[in-house]
Amino acid sequence: MPTTAIIVVAAGSGTRLGASAPKAFVGIDERSVLRHALDGVFAAASAQVIVVAPAGHEGDAETEMRAAAGERIDLGRVVTGGDTRQQSVIAGLHALWGDVDTVLVHDAARALTPPSQIDAILAAVTRTKGTIPTLPVVNTLKRVSGDDVVEAVDRAELVAAQTPQGFPRDLLEAAYAAATDSGAEYTDDAALFAAAGHSVSHIPGSPLAFKITTPEDLERARQLLATPRTAPGPRVGIGTDVHAYGGEGNLWLAGLEWPGEPALSGHSDGDAVAHAIVDALLGAAALGDIGEHFGTSHPEYAGAHGDVFLARTREILAEAGCVIGNVSVQLQANRPRFSARRAEAQEVLSAALGGAPVSITATTTDGLGFAGRGEGVAVTAVALVLPGTLEQ
Ligand code: CTP
Ligand code: MG
Repeated sequence: MPTTAIIVVAAGSGTRLGASAPKAFVGIDERSVLRHALDGVFAAASAQVIVVAPAGHEGDAETEMRAAAGERIDLGRVVTGGDTRQQSVIAGLHALWGDVDTVLVHDAARALTPPSQIDAILAAVTRTKGTIPTLPVVNTLKRVSGDDVVEAVDRAELVAAQTPQGFPRDLLEAAYAAATDSGAEYTDDAALFAAAGHSVSHIPGSPLAFKITTPEDLERARQLLATPRTAPGPRVGIGTDVHAYGGEGNLWLAGLEWPGEPALSGHSDGDAVAHAIVDALLGAAALGDIGEHFGTSHPEYAGAHGDVFLARTREILAEAGCVIGNVSVQLQANRPRFSARRAEAQEVLSAALGGAPVSITATTTDGLGFAGRGEGVAVTAVALVLPGTLEQ
């Protein structure tokens, strides 16, 4: 009999996803959210597995569990969930076997959580302390009140919490009993556990353990599963971009403003260097292209400068577990005279990519072609991307 148990809460309706079925039964590829979550759970160390299903869907949950469990099916059990996540966890706690002394609570919605993250939490729980996986916060954070930004928030002190969250069983059960008595609702188990006076530690989580909440999250999961992962190791990508002169205002190129130089036209600021880099990076990671992530269907990027595109691209790659090795760019243009500001441009672009080296060469084309005739610029970029925390 295992002394550990994993409660997989899957009883939510998935309001924000807005699908016709409860979120757990929505397909990512040919497998549902719940099936992927359970594939991960059963690939981790042996434990009792309690699936908390939406009322009326217990049979569907049972089918998914049988498919994922294989020979380990005797470890699995389906119970009916409640109206809130907290009530669903309580339903799971009631099904624990007597010998269990360590309990993990896991969101089925974190369908692509690597089994190694489950094992790491199992290893880190102690008799007195809970443990949760966390990720650093990458965005710059502000506290707002209505339309006003009130203050900057230091993100160094903040992390984003994931699941599975692991706890000693006796203290978790007591903490849930106390929460039920007080009528308090908590957003995660660690908050409820801490409210009962116990301490919680954290270990590094994985970008793959993100929660599928919105249709965009589901799309991201689909992309990740569609991305071929058969070739671990460095991957290269290429991107080109061409823009004609003819935009409003000053030229923006390579992340810099060039006063007095003719502007390029385009949906954003026309920064062909930044755009070629985006395509090279997305191509290397097989994550689509610039049109898909930043095109006219994303009006929030209209008029945006290159550094915004690059910072978001770096995030997209990080979310897929990829790290940027380096980027090499060649610009073909008569103007501007690039060499005087090369170092400055490299620094700005590199900063937007989280410090990955960016080198830029520039050439004229001996008067040939559209660049040579001074009609516009052409850029080619090559990027190297490395597997970071990428896991199958
Ligand atoms: N959950 C649950 N029982 C509930 C509510 C949520 O078991 N009454 C589970 C969900 O199935 C999910 C996890 O808790 O795996 C995290 O919740 P969330 O992502 O909020 O899922 P939903 O509540 O289904 O989504 P929404 O809030 O958009 O309705
Ligand atoms: Mg919810």
